[in-house]
Amino acid sequence: MIMKTMRATQKKRIFTFLYLIQCVVINLLANNMYLVETQNTVMVFSGKIDGKFLLQYFGSKPGDVLQIEKSGIGLKTEAYPTFGIECTEEKALQATHIDGNLSTDLYLKSVDFTTLENNVTLTKVSLYDNKYPFFVTLYYKAYIKEDVIETWSEISHKEKGNVILTKYASFFMPISTYNPWTTHFHGAWAGEFDIIEEKLERGMKTIKNHEGVRNTLTDNPSVIISFNGQATEEEGELIAGTLAWTGNYKISMDVSQKNRVNLKAGINEEESQLILKKNEVFKTPEFIFTYSDQGKGKASRNIHKWARNYGVMGGDKARMILLNSWEGVKVNITEAKMLSMIDDISALGGELFVMDDGWFGNKYPRMNDKTSLGDWVVDSAKLPNGLQPLVKRATEKGIKFGIWLEPEMMNIKSELFEKHPEWVIQQPNREIGLGRQMTMDLSNPKVQDYIYHVINNLLIENPEIAYIKWDANHHINNVGSEWLPANEQSSLYIEYHKGLQKIFQRIRESHPDLVMQACASGGGRVSYGYLKYFQEFWLSDNTDALRKLYMQWGASHFFPALTMASHVSVSPNLLTGRVIPLKFRVDLSMTGRLGIEMQPKDLNSEEWTFVKKAIENYKTIRPVVQFGDLYRLVSPYDKSDIASLMYVSEKQDHAVLYAFNLSDYLTYRIPALKLKGLDPKKSYKIIEINAETSESTNPLNNKVFKGEFLMDAGIQIVMKKAFQSVIFELIEIQ
Ligand code: GLA
Repeated sequence: MIMKTMRATQKKRIFTFLYLIQCVVINLLANNMYLVETQNTVMVFSGKIDGKFLLQYFGSKPGDVLQIEKSGIGLKTEAYPTFGIECTEEKALQATHIDGNLSTDLYLKSVDFTTLENNVTLTKVSLYDNKYPFFVTLYYKAYIKEDVIETWSEISHKEKGNVILTKYASFFMPISTYNPWTTHFHGAWAGEFDIIEEKLERGMKTIKNHEGVRNTLTDNPSVIISFNGQATEEEGELIAGTLAWTGNYKISMDVSQKNRVNLKAGINEEESQLILKKNEVFKTPEFIFTYSDQGKGKASRNIHKWARNYGVMGGDKARMILLNSWEGVKVNITEAKMLSMIDDISALGGELFVMDDGWFGNKYPRMNDKTSLGDWVVDSAKLPNGLQPLVKRATEKGIKFGIWLEPEMMNIKSELFEKHPEWVIQQPNREIGLGRQMTMDLSNPKVQDYIYHVINNLLIENPEIAYIKWDANHHINNVGSEWLPANEQSSLYIEYHKGLQKIFQRIRESHPDLVMQACASGGGRVSYGYLKYFQEFWLSDNTDALRKLYMQWGASHFFPALTMASHVSVSPNLLTGRVIPLKFRVDLSMTGRLGIEMQPKDLNSEEWTFVKKAIENYKTIRPVVQFGDLYRLVSPYDKSDIASLMYVSEKQDHAVLYAFNLSDYLTYRIPALKLKGLDPKKSYKIIEINAETSESTNPLNNKVFKGEFLMDAGIQIVMKKAFQSVIFELIEIQ
């Protein structure tokens, strides 16, 4: 009886709920309004069929959205503004139709809403030009729990010839606010991801890339725009967005009028006029964005969660601890050295050995970076018995084997160039570019096939290979393709990347579990365009722990720890010469995906014991670091003399706190460090890991505190000398 009543009440509730939803939908439709919703945010659009499709609102859920109309706050701007009729402001799209008409005028045909899976919805908005058979479809994919929206568009036409696209953005959004600020991440080789935070004054601020291959070596295609002043980690309203493209990109913030920013993101069209054939569909790259009214920390956590759940290859799998051979031996590879490195990383408790550059080229052995790229055969002088003894030894030692490749490149001094000089990017009537190496023409399907088969054959012949470090150390010079017709040369930058992505897709179809690292002269490929296919990226060739702290800080705004390879290298650092104690170097690498980038033979016995223990510790904290929520506590950019961050498990039962001392004020007392993200009601025991002595002497070790106290009052960290560091594990106790 009771059961029956409960069921009846439940049914009634469900019915009422569905009825209410229906009412809201009918109400919205009657008002021609459409919502793209996540748990805490909403994008509100409006438009009648055959009328204009307008963006009205984006931000936190304001309750009854129907009030937007009467409140007058609606933005009332076209969701995808086009050039030609009204021409005074930035536009998302510009097309030249076959009769030369420069204008496009889009109207709403339909809005389709589908639930793709429990947590994901897709809204498809079909637009058409009322005078030309020209179509744009806008997609908004909403990830409800993560509060993230992914958007892209598809452009097509049925005109009797080619339409020329000179603007084709992925995303366009006007932001109406006082005092807008932007955070972006400037870089250069060996100095990637430097945080720049600046006020957006009237005029245009653009970050972009031109170089064709390593699209994030300069600025990263990620921005934060904060409203009403600078946002902090905890406070402030903002939009954070990142473009998932592998090639040249452009993100502009146009403060066209005081208090209004037009944010636009997409492929960099400057060198890439697009020829769109009849019935061809051009899909723009995805722009991924989130809104936060609780500062930058919340935005990062939203994007990180989305990345682990949807945006990164194998985002739910723990990453292996590895030794990479590059800084340890450079190109001077021998069988004996590789075997001893395999033995060493296995003895240290690592899980993977990666043989970097230098193993290939037979006719032209790879003795320096001027030869052999393209000839992916083992150098029989360096490795007379091939790869087999190496993969066999790795298997015997219980670890995986990985290998370095730079598949898109060719040196002139290579057998491949002798056979296929037409496969490199080049122009008619010009000397071939004689840089260190040349980029291959990936618009050509034969080149795509060649690259795919090089990798596929290597993996079939050596099924033990579990990891590829995919490098790309050059840009595009002499932009020109022997493959593309004369009138489509301006599509090369885009066709190159379509070709590259086809290769990635084929590799993923045949090798779904292979782990791949995106590397490009260091951090040239840190973007969700790559992470769709790759598990991780190499952040920088600069492995100096101090520089790395700043770079990782920047990258952590958009990329979660499990994507960020962070390797311990020698001191003095090979690039900067800076001397930094081993503990600091190891502790810092343990904030990302831990690896080693040196010859383990160079560790003395005390250091060896420390690294071995640290690897063991990392295995304990790995689930929290790689899958937990990040809280940036004290930024090195604030010149606070320390930097501190922490990760907290989803259940808030396990956390890891890091503090790094950057100054040598011996009398300076570090202010109390207030922790974040813990459960105020839970009790946590502090355990120091990676202590310098075999038993921790830290006064906080083994002490128990309530989460509330740790967050409200904090703890006193004692560090006197520069480059001291500390890691505390916090474990819930009942
Ligand atoms: C690039 C990478 C390095 C290393 C070298 C090898 O610079 O970023 O990690 O692999 O190439 O040539």
